[in-house]
Amino acid sequence: MEFVQSLLVILAAFCLPSSYILGNVVSVRGEGIPRGTIPLIYPAGFKQEAPVNTSLLWSKSVHGLNPDVANKLRPLFDYQFVLPEQSLRAGLGYVGAARRLRKFVTDLLAGRRSLRIGVVGGSISYDMFASRRGVTDWFSIFVNWLASVTKAEVKSLNGCRPATPSLYMVFCMEHSVDPEVDLVVIEYSLNDGFDDSIKKNRIVMDKEQLVRRLMKLQNQPAVVFLQVPHVWPKYVHPFHHTSEDVEGALAAYYDVQTVSLRTSMFLLNLHHPTHGFLWNETYFNRHPIDTGHKAMADLVIHLIQEVAVGLYTWPASEQEVSWLKMPLPPPMHDGNYEPMFASCLVVDAFANLCISKEGWQWINEGTDTKPKWGFVSTTPGSELILRLGTPGVSGPATAAVVKNTTFPLLIHYLLSYAPMGQVSVDCLGGCYCQKRVNGHLSNTLMEVSVTHMVLLDVTWKDHSLPCDMRVTVLNDTTSDGHKFKVSGVVFAATNSLAAFHAIDNWIEF
Ligand SMILES: *[C@@H]1O[C@H](CO)[C@@H](O)[C@H](O)[C@H]1NC(C)=O
Ligand SMILES: *[C@@H]1O[C@H](CO)[C@@H](O)[C@H](O)[C@H]1NC(C)=O
Ligand SMILES: *[C@@H]1O[C@H](CO)[C@@H](O)[C@H](O)[C@H]1NC(C)=O
Ligand SMILES: *[C@@H]1O[C@H](CO)[C@@H](O)[C@H](O)[C@H]1NC(C)=O
Repeated sequence: MEFVQSLLVILAAFCLPSSYILGNVVSVRGEGIPRGTIPLIYPAGFKQEAPVNTSLLWSKSVHGLNPDVANKLRPLFDYQFVLPEQSLRAGLGYVGAARRLRKFVTDLLAGRRSLRIGVVGGSISYDMFASRRGVTDWFSIFVNWLASVTKAEVKSLNGCRPATPSLYMVFCMEHSVDPEVDLVVIEYSLNDGFDDSIKKNRIVMDKEQLVRRLMKLQNQPAVVFLQVPHVWPKYVHPFHHTSEDVEGALAAYYDVQTVSLRTSMFLLNLHHPTHGFLWNETYFNRHPIDTGHKAMADLVIHLIQEVAVGLYTWPASEQEVSWLKMPLPPPMHDGNYEPMFASCLVVDAFANLCISKEGWQWINEGTDTKPKWGFVSTTPGSELILRLGTPGVSGPATAAVVKNTTFPLLIHYLLSYAPMGQVSVDCLGGCYCQKRVNGHLSNTLMEVSVTHMVLLDVTWKDHSLPCDMRVTVLNDTTSDGHKFKVSGVVFAATNSLAAFHAIDNWIEF
């Protein structure tokens, strides 16, 4: 019940239910401020691109280390924080044994091999609202700092996708994460929505699959959660209104570190309101602006510094090093294994599946810098045929058919408040599938255009025939238009089809 209520609140606020979507909220009607939230009021003339106030910057000084160690660590401490000291310290969450992170920091200090850094998350870490992408966003500040403290080459990849939840990344990681990554930060607290249940919490279960997929990458990367508060355009949710705390169990279980902007910022807003750090000075339209980004970088850098000092006071033992070789433990939630295989086909890889497109066009509805490619049709009866699998040729469809001839396929399509039509999806050749999809969002409260995912179970009964999927525009429509757009497919082989069915459940809201 708690979950249903919070979902309604989320719907009312238009976070969109855990947003199984990729795209932009165009605008939101309805201005209500839910009960129990903290109102957020902006000053007239508020400047979204306000720079960090340099007179707030300070540096740590480290005491009590022997001169040799102090010398080695000095470059690491040559960094200026904006978050006040108490707030910085409060934002350090779970550190734990930190086996992988200690190894990463050891390599950073030694500078003997190149290091690869990644981030997965939504629009906050994609740096939607930092004034200069690549300069004032937290990930760039962090990566530039890392490069300044080590002799090693530092490579980075910002793999964030605006308006996506963790589950999107569980299946589409290949486009966002370097397979040889050494440290990867996860930032999804806002996009994943809110569910505080302890048992079978969908958000925590999806996050667990993501953590497992990342931890299994070849360099055994260190993983860090960067937890952000739930800040909306006109209010801030209370401290506990986040899945951050229930995700704490994952941090402890997998020895993943956590830093919390939520904890840091509440200290500076509710406990001890501090000029320069108020919500209406650091956030705009759900996103941190420059000072907020700097605060996020501060937290991750503080974590690295603390781990570095710890390595000198308590160096890694042989036993610690041997623990790194151990396989992952079984999932914390019984049976919640990561997918064995996932392949996400978008843009050219998706276009290449097409064998016939009568009445459909392959077009970019976005811009060159922010492309939105897909097959679009506006005419009932138009048929698009995509070849998912070819007999005797290994590809994503054959890889997805692992134990069972039925494999799950996620279709990316445009869901919009604008006039949109419906399609029927069926399969031809050796495959069977059946689905009807409506591209029109009839919920009158929302003016959104998002990429949504729908689940299709595809059964490849006869492998001597190709497996084709047909998308046909129908006469039926719930709007006054027939437009439909498909933009990608995800193939996966998974033990837990439940994860997929969770997506299906989100469709008809
Ligand atoms: C900014 O927020 C603070 C704290 O909520 C509030 O006291 C202040 O009036 C707000 N500033 C303006 C100009 O609205
Ligand atoms: C910057 O911070 C200083 C020190 O707190 C403060 O006196 C000053 O007003 C701030 N400047 C701006 C533009 O907010
Ligand atoms: C749409 O309606 C027309 C006229 O009734 C019919 O001929 C056609 O088969 C229908 N097309 C589809 C895709 O249902
Ligand atoms: C194959 O998958 C389908 C659909 O998920 C399921 O209903 C069926 O029980 C599975 N069969 C086997 C043998 O695992």
